[in-house]
Amino acid sequence: MPVAPHITEAMASSSFIRRMFEEGILLKSRFGADQVYDFSIGNPDLEPPEKVALMLKEMGASPQKGCHGYMPNAGYPETRSAMAAKVSAEQGVALDHSRIVMGVGAAGAMNAVLKAVLSPGDEVLVSAPFFPEYAHYARNHGGNLRTVPSKDDFSLDVGAIEAAISSRTAALIINSPNNPTGKIYTRTDIEGLAAALKRSKERTGRSVILIADEPYREVVYDGREVAPVFPSWPDSVIVSSFAKNLSLPGERIGYAAVNPASPDAQGLTDAIIFCTRVLGFVNAPATFQRIVAQCWNEKVDYSSYLKRRNLLTGILDEAGIEYSLPEGAFYLFCRVPERQATSGDSGNDGAFCEHLKGKRILAVPGKGFGKPGWFRLAYCVSEKSITLSREAFKSARMEW
Ligand SMILES: Cc1ncc(COP(=O)(O)O)c(C=O)c1O
Repeated sequence: MPVAPHITEAMASSSFIRRMFEEGILLKSRFGADQVYDFSIGNPDLEPPEKVALMLKEMGASPQKGCHGYMPNAGYPETRSAMAAKVSAEQGVALDHSRIVMGVGAAGAMNAVLKAVLSPGDEVLVSAPFFPEYAHYARNHGGNLRTVPSKDDFSLDVGAIEAAISSRTAALIINSPNNPTGKIYTRTDIEGLAAALKRSKERTGRSVILIADEPYREVVYDGREVAPVFPSWPDSVIVSSFAKNLSLPGERIGYAAVNPASPDAQGLTDAIIFCTRVLGFVNAPATFQRIVAQCWNEKVDYSSYLKRRNLLTGILDEAGIEYSLPEGAFYLFCRVPERQATSGDSGNDGAFCEHLKGKRILAVPGKGFGKPGWFRLAYCVSEKSITLSREAFKSARMEW
């Protein structure tokens, strides 16, 4: 068998979101797309801003030569400068293009950062529930993901994180707004976390790199602020992309930004550039580097996500299913209801998602996010589909 056993094992335990997505395609071909309520995957359904299509047209028609060639591994200088302006505004800390490395989506950028900082056996901490791919990303580079439960309201449990830090801890990943909970961490949370990282550094002699994974930064409700991390902790890196805010997930365009206050900011940036190259990415896609250099601050109306959040929470309220109200992103994290029938699998998120599937509702069990007893609904789907799911949720709840 040519496949390495650890890959076979990882594949078996990790493909649950994709499996749901693929089962959805089958169900839709059997019952019709309208009759399947597919909340399985976070594929934004807003179209990218018009300027993206206009630029593509212009670029296609342009006689300019050499625009498909190799470039510096970190990306085009003008794109890096545009990202530096973006990150400076978001973080309230001035940085220039030299601290930016363009990446193949947030996922590619995260892998380059982890490869740059992990030694074999190192730990990467994350607050659970979390984006399940992080476990694979850490393992890709010889690290182990260690999870720390969040507080009941899904905010960071700073005390528990501090207690989990040891001399093996290389990095801590935070993700705000969070997938799967929609939680946004406040300035007080981040400042408290930075104080804990400072104490940990004194205790272990090692500085933990804080990686803020921010692809949902712009998708926030009720004017919420996504707190910056650069002013609070020097050893920090932002990882982000244009997958969710500009609806470009398939174009694989993102970046890593290194805090200029990091004691070895140049060394860390150079290492991320090198890792982008040797991971085989070489550089982020050229065409979309040009596009995001000009479109990164296009105005996008995210109010339809808020509308859909409210529509879906109304339906869940009616059905009697509890959830944590998202402050950003487009996921609803819901508690598996108490079972009325006495089948013994009360609170079992896998069984409940199977039960929902029987009603043609596709949801993802919480176990894979590190939170059994819960399930995730991605509501970046049509209003019509959400509205049509009402009776299915009600009967699923009643028959559980
Ligand atoms: C929390 C989180 N981080 C990273 C990613 C990957 O983003 P990208 O498609 O830009 O690689 C996702 C995608 O869903 C995500 O939810």
